[in-house]
Parts: sequence; C-alpha cells; structure tokens
Amino acid sequence: MKIRLVGGLMLTAISIVLFESCVSDKDSSGLEYMPDMYRSPAIEPYVDYGEIRGRENADLKMQQSALTPPHGAIPYYGTNVEDVKLMMPWSILPSADFKLTHGLTGFDFAKNGLNTYEVDALAWNWNPLMMDIEVVKTGETMDRKNLTLDNAKKLYASNCMHCHGEKGDGNGPMMKSGAFNGVPNYADKSALSDGQIFYSIYYGKGAMGSHASQLNKKEIWSLVHYVRQFQNPDYDKVAKESAILKKGEEKAIVKVTAMVASVVAPTEDNK
Ligand code: HEC
Repeated sequence: MKIRLVGGLMLTAISIVLFESCVSDKDSSGLEYMPDMYRSPAIEPYVDYGEIRGRENADLKMQQSALTPPHGAIPYYGTNVEDVKLMMPWSILPSADFKLTHGLTGFDFAKNGLNTYEVDALAWNWNPLMMDIEVVKTGETMDRKNLTLDNAKKLYASNCMHCHGEKGDGNGPMMKSGAFNGVPNYADKSALSDGQIFYSIYYGKGAMGSHASQLNKKEIWSLVHYVRQFQNPDYDKVAKESAILKKGEEKAIVKVTAMVASVVAPTEDNK
C-alpha cells in the first residue's frame, strides 16, 4: 500500500517535471492544465470595437461600449423629494447641433436649433437649488457657513478651474500654458440667466464639452451659484445674512433662495 502511494507520488512528480520541460521559455510554467485558472479572461468594457484582431469596424470606432444606461433610464436618488425633483430629466433638450460635437451620449435632442426654442425657454429657467446655510449661535455671535458654495468650491477646483481660473477670469493654467484659449471672464457673463449657465455646463458650449457625465444636476446647479459669485461679490454674504435661526434654535441648516442674482428675477411679465 505504502509502496503504491510513494510510486504514485513519484510518477506525479516526474510528469510535472516532464511537462514543465516541454516549453523552452524559462519564465513559463510549462504546459498549462486549464489556462483560464492561471489567467482569467480579460473583460474590457471600453475595448475599441473599431479594431478587433486587426479587423476594423469603422462605424463602431470611438464609441463607448459599456456603462451607458438604457435610454430613458432614471437613476435612483433616494427619498428626499427636493433632491429627486432636481435630478429628474431636465425639460430643456440639447440643441440638435450638439449631436456630434459635445460628447453627449444617450440624450434626446431638440428638433429645432439652439437659437429659437431653447434659448427662449432658458430665459426664465431659474436656479431651483436653494443654498444650505449652517447657522450656529454662540452667545451673541452667529457663525454662518454656506455649505452649498463650500461644496461647489471643491467641484469647481476639480472640474473647471484649470480652464476658468481660480478667480473665474478665464485665466486658468490651461490658458496660461497656451494650450487652450477662448475662455470668457465670468464677470462679462452676468446677463446670462441661471438656466443658460446650467445649459452651457450641462450640455457644453463652443470649445467647452458637456459635463453631464461628470457632475449630477444638483452639483451643476450649485456651480451655477458659484459662477454667480464672480459676477456679484455680495452673493455669498447676502445669502448668509438672510439665513435666520428660528426662535429657540442654537444651530440649524437654513435653506435660502438666491437673493442677489445679477440678472432680474423672473416675474409674471418677463417669464
Ligand atoms: C476645457 C476648458 C473648460 C472647462 C474644463 C470648463 N470650461 Fe466653461 N468654458 C470654456 C470655454 C472655451 C467657454 C466659452 C464657450 C463659448 O462661448 O463658445 C466656456 C464658457 C463657460 C460659461 C459661459 C457659458 C455661456 O453660455 O456663455 C460658463 C458659465 C462656464 N463655462 C462654466 C464652467 C463650469 C462651471 C465648468 C466646470 C464644471 C467649466 N465651465 C469647465 C472652457 C472650459
């Protein structure tokens, strides 16, 4: 019995050595039994199907091949009604001209051009995001923090500043390096409505691409507030001052509307 076991083990050892020596490459482990267990097959969601094993498919080239949600899909954004409303598909569609130019995938496009229906509709499209101001009362002093703008500052630093500059003057490092040009100074853009600013960030404009896949709608509306600060230096101050604690409260997060828009708020007449 013992001898048989030893014999069996020796046979196995010898065959391993033999099989290993079948391959001349000294870095190879030799012939492989079930190679998928050594190397799992690569799943490449972004493989460029324009080129498969030397064969080219021109119509599939440069297309994102995965992670695009089905057409009309609405993501789940929790149960906070205000947040959910903000995340609903926006009523203003991208211009048909943007189909090929601004990296928009999975969007419906407007039937008519940018200069008619959309811009008219945008003139009264007001920022629906109220700003969150944290108010803390310590004795007689009130400390106020604009949580919405603080968060927008971070988003701005990672998504916009390289082009638009820290001061919003259109002088970011991309401009300074000479790699890019044509970025406006926000201060010259105060006539834009909130909706027009949202539209340009969401769908893109000219040399600026769409940010629809990087930022959600709530984040973009908070950036609309952030852009407004460069046009009106009192934007943050007035918003903070308008946040008042209720009687008896020592600390609260107070929601305030944009109090100091640089453009005239919509009325029944100019809607
Ligand atoms: C790659 C550089 C680049 C990046 C990144 C960029 N922009 Fe722009 N942005 C531009 C250019 C160029 C224009 C001018 C477009 C035009 O008028 O043709 C512009 C225009 C704008 C305008 C004016 C839009 C209008 O309707 O006239 C706003 C507002 C704006 N950008 C905000 C942002 C915000 C917010 C971000 C970050 C989420 C951002 N941009 C990221 C280059 C950029």
